[in-house]
Amino acid sequence: MSFPDVRLRRLRQSPAVRGLVRETSLEPRNLVLPLFVREGISEAVPIGSMPGVAQHSLDSLRAAAVDAADAGVGGVMLFGVPAVRDAQGSGADDPKGILNVATEVLAAEVGDALVVQTDLCLDEFTDHGHCGVLAADGSVDNDATLVRYASMALAQARAGSQLLGLSGMMDGQVAVIRAALDAEGFTGTLLLAYAAKYASAFYGPFREAVDSQLKGDRRTYQLDPGNRREGVREAVVDEQEGADIVMVKPAMAFLDVLREVRDTVDIPVWAYQVSGEYAMIEAAAANGWIDRRASILESLLSIRRAGADAVLTYWATDAARWLRG
Ligand code: PBG
Repeated sequence: MSFPDVRLRRLRQSPAVRGLVRETSLEPRNLVLPLFVREGISEAVPIGSMPGVAQHSLDSLRAAAVDAADAGVGGVMLFGVPAVRDAQGSGADDPKGILNVATEVLAAEVGDALVVQTDLCLDEFTDHGHCGVLAADGSVDNDATLVRYASMALAQARAGSQLLGLSGMMDGQVAVIRAALDAEGFTGTLLLAYAAKYASAFYGPFREAVDSQLKGDRRTYQLDPGNRREGVREAVVDEQEGADIVMVKPAMAFLDVLREVRDTVDIPVWAYQVSGEYAMIEAAAANGWIDRRASILESLLSIRRAGADAVLTYWATDAARWLRG
């Protein structure tokens, strides 16, 4: 038997050797749990397409956040589901709006244990379901939306959010929101820019989760899934505008974009393992076709390997518990 004596298997001979040479780690502190809070309910309502995930009441929300904190999760990202919607998304910047009320509750309850974060976008609050307000011709009005986002940012910061997740994909949103926050003294509020957010089919279950009113699609503001360079460019612009962290979303179908963004910007990069990614693994596991826990941990490790410093995942609490043993 003769071949060039390069024996790569030496590095894989035992768990201890493999442990010493593993390049990527996954820890509870790298995980962020997205949570849905719905106005006007007294008990959690399960989401059919996301088994194990629910729309929370204020009480069940508090319990889920405490659970996440106990498991060592690094943060929670809050989404609000209002009872009433309108064209401007008035519930979004109303201090009595469900998202802002829930933020106050969580900031008081777990604000010292993890980073309380809020989604900053109008789609859950508008009766047409778009991420911005509409112009007379029905198109999404970028600059008019920025005025609404600035107001929403202040409402969230006042409610105690430590980090705002800018998920609306409007041009200039990072710069405008940073200026609005700084002008009111909120210089410490972190901005996470959903820089490379693609118009993806994998958001399907999320739309049920937030009772989305959208008809049509978001292709005039979210990225075309075929475009990698454009995704990197979005991240570069967001970094220049003052984002503290940039995001790539979805995660698993866009790992090449994630790697390139990581290699291009200097700030932290996060990824969002979205609802469709969750649903696929849960459905296959429920059928006995894949090992649930192993698949979940492998998917998260792979997102870290591709370059994510932290991952938003609906499995954050479960995964954190498994990682802690
Ligand atoms: C929109 C928003 C979306 C998600 C988070 N924020 C989807 C959309 O564009 O409709 C998707 C998250 C997921 O699928 O888990 N503000």
